[in-house]
Amino acid sequence: MKNKKILITGAAGFIGSNMSEVLIQDNEVVGIDNLSNVDDRFVKPLSKNRNFVFRKGDINDPAFMKDLGTFDLVIHLAANSDVKGGSSDPLLDFRVNAQGTMGVLEFMRLSDTAQIAFASSSTVYGEAAQLPTPETYGPYLPISSYGASKMAGEGFIAAYSHYYGFKSTMFRFANIVGKNSTHGVIFDFIHKLKKDSKSLEILGDGTQRKSYMHVTDCVGSILFVHEKLSKTDIVNLGNAGTTPVTRIADSVTRAMHLENVKYRFTGGFEGRGWKGDVKVAELSISKLSSLGWKNSMGSDAAVDKAVSETLAQLSSKT
Ligand SMILES: NC(=O)c1ccc[n+]([C@@H]2O[C@H](COP(=O)([O-])OP(=O)(O)OC[C@H]3O[C@@H](n4cnc5c(N)ncnc54)[C@H](O)[C@@H]3O)[C@@H](O)[C@H]2O)c1
Repeated sequence: MKNKKILITGAAGFIGSNMSEVLIQDNEVVGIDNLSNVDDRFVKPLSKNRNFVFRKGDINDPAFMKDLGTFDLVIHLAANSDVKGGSSDPLLDFRVNAQGTMGVLEFMRLSDTAQIAFASSSTVYGEAAQLPTPETYGPYLPISSYGASKMAGEGFIAAYSHYYGFKSTMFRFANIVGKNSTHGVIFDFIHKLKKDSKSLEILGDGTQRKSYMHVTDCVGSILFVHEKLSKTDIVNLGNAGTTPVTRIADSVTRAMHLENVKYRFTGGFEGRGWKGDVKVAELSISKLSSLGWKNSMGSDAAVDKAVSETLAQLSSKT
């Protein structure tokens, strides 16, 4: 993608900062974020590039949004990304992810911005009976308010696309891992092991397995697919195969040079990490592959790389 004016929502976050880093090479980028999940540590270095402007603000604030101007494309990544917190505060998912997406769509309608790439999630499928799960699977029965809010976001994007002729690409992400991550299983295990290097608490019964994708492949495939498609569509992003949660624990302990770490499984809720956690998630990536995209690494390799990147980032901070 070149010479475009692009708005990135959630630019200060994990995927947003990686996306911004790539796009500022050849495009004019405005990154917005209300800094509710993370501070400005990842966007500060990007602001040195004259192609990047950061504005602190909320996607649910029409006055802030109205002031941003017009864009060729919005990459909508802002969200409450804490899936775990849903059962104690489901309204947060509604306000940030469902209503917030409406805020972005209204901004687009009023500013004549006609293209959007949206970060949806594999959680819209709920506990799919078909694995790997294709985009055509249904009915959707999400088991978390996060999944429900992403499903609402997809629905409104489809409706606005029909009403106003937007080109919209919606991406159902598997678990994305890599540099600048501030949440998720790898981050959690490293923090726990830094506190106690003898034992590791693993949420759930240890049988969870999910597909992981490296953030460089996530960012690359979004841009590739958005340019390739000419009309509104939905594409799964992930890797073939899954990585068991114990394989991730092994990768982290190995990288931290720890031996004989005792794994303690919490048992969780019905063996899940938390209420609303999908135990086995594997997306079909046939559609992604048929469009011509090939990931640079598989699920296990993405996890191993993300473990070393996260460890390097955490140690450079101390
Ligand atoms: N990381 C994953 O594995 C994964 C998987 C599926 C979907 N997603 C989706 O990808 C997107 C990016 O996820 P991430 O992992 O980078 O999460 P993240 O929490 O690091 O980034 C989200 C950013 O949105 C910002 N934000 C939250 N509410 C806002 C608001 N009202 N206005 C403006 N900014 C706001 C946060 O401060 C944060 O910086 C999210 O939409 C998330 O739901 C991520």
